Amino acid sequence: MCGIVGAVAQRDVAEILIEGLRRLEYRGYDSAGVAILNNNDIQRVRRLGKVKELSDALEVSPLPGSTGIAHTRWATHGEPSEVNAHPHISGSDFAVVHNGIIENHEELKEQLKTKGYEFVSATDTEVIAHLIAEEYKNFKDLLKAVQSAVKQLEGAYGAVVMNRNNPEELIVARSGSPLVVGKGIGEMFVASDQLALLPVTRQFLYLEEGEVARVTRTTLDIYDTDEKLIERDFEESSVQHDAGDKGPYRHFMMKEIHEQPESIASTLEGRIINGEITSEIFGVKAKEIFDEVEAIQIVACGTSFHAAMVTKYWCESLANIPCHVEIASEYRYRKSFTPQKALFITISQSGETADTLAALRLAKEKGFMASLTVCNVPGSSLVRESDLAFMTRAGAEIGVASTKAFTTQLAGLLMLVGCIAKHKGLSESEQADIVHAIEAIPREIQKALEQDSLIEQLAEDFSEKHHSLFLGRGEQYPIAMEGALKLKEISYIHAEAYAAGELKHGPLALIDHEMPIVVVAPKNELLEKLKSNMEEVRARGGQLYVFADKDAPFKEEDGVKVVRVESAHDITAPIIYTIPLQLLSYHVAVIKGTDVDQPRNLAKSVTVE
Ligand code: G6P
Repeated sequence: MCGIVGAVAQRDVAEILIEGLRRLEYRGYDSAGVAILNNNDIQRVRRLGKVKELSDALEVSPLPGSTGIAHTRWATHGEPSEVNAHPHISGSDFAVVHNGIIENHEELKEQLKTKGYEFVSATDTEVIAHLIAEEYKNFKDLLKAVQSAVKQLEGAYGAVVMNRNNPEELIVARSGSPLVVGKGIGEMFVASDQLALLPVTRQFLYLEEGEVARVTRTTLDIYDTDEKLIERDFEESSVQHDAGDKGPYRHFMMKEIHEQPESIASTLEGRIINGEITSEIFGVKAKEIFDEVEAIQIVACGTSFHAAMVTKYWCESLANIPCHVEIASEYRYRKSFTPQKALFITISQSGETADTLAALRLAKEKGFMASLTVCNVPGSSLVRESDLAFMTRAGAEIGVASTKAFTTQLAGLLMLVGCIAKHKGLSESEQADIVHAIEAIPREIQKALEQDSLIEQLAEDFSEKHHSLFLGRGEQYPIAMEGALKLKEISYIHAEAYAAGELKHGPLALIDHEMPIVVVAPKNELLEKLKSNMEEVRARGGQLYVFADKDAPFKEEDGVKVVRVESAHDITAPIIYTIPLQLLSYHVAVIKGTDVDQPRNLAKSVTVE
């Protein structure tokens, strides 16, 4: 949610900042801006729209200077506009970029107005700029002014501050919104995600909650909430340098769909030893916790919530322990029951989703036995704050619509359930079946990808539609939900998913010959039930698009189109059936000409409520 980049160097930094923003654009893309210090003068350029608008403007009028900050925005307070775009300034002295939401900004604004500060934007961020200016009057030191200012802020922030009297330093502050410092040779960088800085460094250090740091070309001084100096080393990043490039693909989403066999293989690597999933892969304390656990509570948001729903089906059938799943933003704001000996699981691609993080913190207060996160970003808040962690290895996911992050989550979650089930007495042969099924996933996904051109043709049928339904049963119900979410987020076609048995309780009224109905129909014990639901649709003229096993008893006929999916194991079928649904939504969006990688109004990582 919003992207931040900053640099203190000995060379002009505008290009580094713009490349960083381009790499972070997936996080927010309604406006962008940059401020650069040149001869003790802050020069600022902002543009409504994408980073391209900003870089075009800088090509016409370049900004020289070796210290600068930049931002790509996803609007929270104030509409997307140039005046609301960051960096925000106070007079000609201070410039600030900020991620997060300052909850007490109204109150601070009133106080600052009485002191003569004028506000020109509708953002909460402008308050930070003026507050620092006010504090600087007392301290005459930028670090101290920022430390004093952040103590007055309520809410979440990742902020970078620049001052024209201190041309070779940036002050960074983190509370609730990630910030990383990158070390180059005689230069230093900051960003909200290391991906932004991979072209210039591989040495990174993440700020912890509440820390404020002074960054110069050659030094980094980090202070904790008690203003004590902290010692911490930079670490070498394992993220691939080309992670921000599309390669031969037109969109990141298609690249990431095709990366799935590899990202699942990498997620499995070293995790199954001698045919067994061992508890150590979840953390040193996992064995003890899995022996004791009697219930599971999972919370997540968006696509990760769908992974949670699939896990519930797996967990109760294999491990035979109760598993509750809930959307994080609901869980955190209601009074809920905490079972005895319960494990609290969060699922998150980014590890920074505000609601999921808040739910974890609440769970700790509520006395869960332990917490575990399934996450794609090492060092993220959820990873650091959980007792146990399973890192998916999807690599950087840039497309806003989650694809490889979802399937790697599912692979990890199936290993987790398999492992807990082992501790709960699942037989050796059943464990071996799960392991075989998991090991076959990369191969089966590769096969599913071969249906791409057939699905591209089917996508033509959807491009003029305004509505669609997705049906599934059992653990394919969440997959139908994920298919519907993909279609609505990138093609803007209204898509709803139903457990097929619910059809007759309402949605059947929507069906006519204009309504496409996607059915996720693997050959399993629920297939006959599902076929009856499909007949109900056909009888009312609905157009069926059936995703079914190779030898499933469906044939192409009027009103029925069939896509064959090869999935040898019931347990992993939800993962394999996800692939054709991703391809379908991708092709529909391409035909409709929407912005596939950066759909309107959305952001990749939602670090605000
Ligand atoms: C945003 C993204 C979704 C993602 C959700 C949860 O809405 O656009 O793709 O599923 O956040 O994010 P997380 O990082 O916690 O998985």
